[in-house]
Amino acid sequence: MGFKEQLDINRLPEHIAIIMDGNGRWAKNQGKFRVFGHESGVLSVKDIVEGCVDIGIKYLTVYAFSTENWNRPIEEVNALMELLISTINEQAETLNKNNVRLNAIGDLKSLPQKCIDDLANVMEVTSKNSRCTLTLALSYSAKWEILSATKKIAEQVKEGKLNLDEISEELFNAQLTTSNIPDPELMIRTSGEHRISNFLLWQMAYTELYFTETLWPDFRREDLFEAIVDYQKRERRFGKISEQLN
Ligand code: FPP
Repeated sequence: MGFKEQLDINRLPEHIAIIMDGNGRWAKNQGKFRVFGHESGVLSVKDIVEGCVDIGIKYLTVYAFSTENWNRPIEEVNALMELLISTINEQAETLNKNNVRLNAIGDLKSLPQKCIDDLANVMEVTSKNSRCTLTLALSYSAKWEILSATKKIAEQVKEGKLNLDEISEELFNAQLTTSNIPDPELMIRTSGEHRISNFLLWQMAYTELYFTETLWPDFRREDLFEAIVDYQKRERRFGKISEQLN
């Protein structure tokens, strides 16, 4: 029996976050340039989005470019930006066909202007879609996001528009880039690395973490379904004891 048949479709995570890692190693293993790994990684993104649409995952967030990735060699940064631009433009029609809304989080203004413009355009043309929201984390880091939220709240306190005792989890959430998205129940990281790498630190307070040795360009929807089956075997207690659940 395949992993899809083992899924309990009544207990799917609403939101899955993915750290897509291992593109460079995948390419190197084949004696190819790193960029080839990223290009192949796009095929995995497409298959995983379709897998999410197929089974009914409402939110998928992928870590496509971190704040720290700006420190990579300029040729690789440029290639990633070009790949991003060509992919979103090529996929706009398919996103619409699959009823997928494109969203982006991160310090988007630091992206090249063409990237900003094309992202805004594809987000606009897919904005009415409702089956799944695909969020690209771009020039994103959780520490940047938390600091930005903190500054916005501090500003409101300074201007006398907000009292200290009004600062709650809900108010903080509302200042995050993910304010319209539920916290992920499941986070997947490929390539055998066991780190969170500055991804959604606030939002992942109670997220189930799943690590696989599979390199991102080899990761396909059957691997996604396997991760969800594993997630469904876990007991999520949120600090309570087993007997208190249900
Ligand atoms: C990590 O692998 C991957 C990235 C930093 C980029 C991810 C980008 C893509 C999959 C393509 C663009 C995505 C979209 C949504 C259009 P790595 O380079 O760190 O691999 P390594 O650890 O083996 O070096």
